[in-house]
Order: sequence, then structure tokens, then C-alpha cells
Amino acid sequence: MKTLYLIGFMGSGKSTVGELLHYDLGISYLDTDQMVVEKYGEIAAIFQQEGEDKFRDYETEMLTKTSPENYIVSTGGGIVEREENMAFMKNNGRIIYLDTSFAQIADRLGNDPSRPLWRKNQKDKQKLYQRRAKWYRQLADFTVMTDQKSPEDIAGEILKIL
Ligand code: S3P
Repeated sequence: MKTLYLIGFMGSGKSTVGELLHYDLGISYLDTDQMVVEKYGEIAAIFQQEGEDKFRDYETEMLTKTSPENYIVSTGGGIVEREENMAFMKNNGRIIYLDTSFAQIADRLGNDPSRPLWRKNQKDKQKLYQRRAKWYRQLADFTVMTDQKSPEDIAGEILKIL
């Protein structure tokens, strides 16, 4: 099976759904955020001490380590900030977009301190969401609307199209 890349904004459920697919399909699972944390330390600390650009370098490094076959890969919401990442996923696997409304994301994340880019003011967060939504949509081979659905329902929809 071609590797599945899960994309979407912070809080859209990529990691939870990714782990469910990993168990359901019995294939390996990677999470680019987790890979960065294991090699370079906590994300909030990287943003604070080295800056966002350095974090993007680490994230790109991890993405390019993923294989084109038999993996479920959850990506960070900002993976689309680099064109090379978008090209890499397009050339190497199938891309599934978890499409979650801004209202639902705001509800889920509250004031989560572990996500540095969620600490912006409301207007800037909305701008970031809108800018990225366009890229997610363009990139996706398949989109799942996730509002009001459980992670199990979302994983079930993805399994149906495989
Ligand atoms: C980010 C999203 C986070 C993480 C980092 C930056 C972003 O991942 O990579 O905080 O730029 O949207 P999640 O989408 O898993 O929250």
C-alpha cells in the first residue's frame, strides 16, 4: 500500500486518527512532530530557542525520512509551509486531509500552551487557518470532513477508500 500522509490544521485529529489506522491496518506509524521531539526536544522549546524556521528544517528532515510504501504518517499542521514538503508528499504517497472547522479547532485546543502558533491572537489564528486551508485542499487526494465525528468514524471513512 502507498504511504498515507494525514494533513490538516492543528487539532484536526491527525495523530489520533493516524494511530487508529495504524492498528486497523497493521502497518507502521510515524508522526513528524514526535520524530522531531525524539531527536531535537520539545517543540515549544525549539520555537522559543531556535525559532520557527529551524523547526521547519527539522520537520522537513523528518518528513523526508518517511518511506513511500506501507506507512501511516501524521504531519504537523505547518507541513504545508514549505513547498518542498508538499511536493514530497505528492510524489511519495496518498494525501488525506482532515478538514475541521475553525470553531471546532478553537473548541478543542482552548489555550494549549504546547502549540506555539496557537498562542497568537484570534484574528491571526484565523488568517493562518484560511491561508493553509487553501493549500490542504489543493494537495489532498481525499478529504474527510471531521466536525461532529469521532476519530473512529473518521478512520472508518478513510479505510473505505483504500
Ligand atoms: C504546527 C503544528 C503542530 C506542530 C508545531 C507547529 C503548525 O503540530 O508541528 O506546533 O505550524 O501548525 P499539530 O498540527 O500536530 O498540532
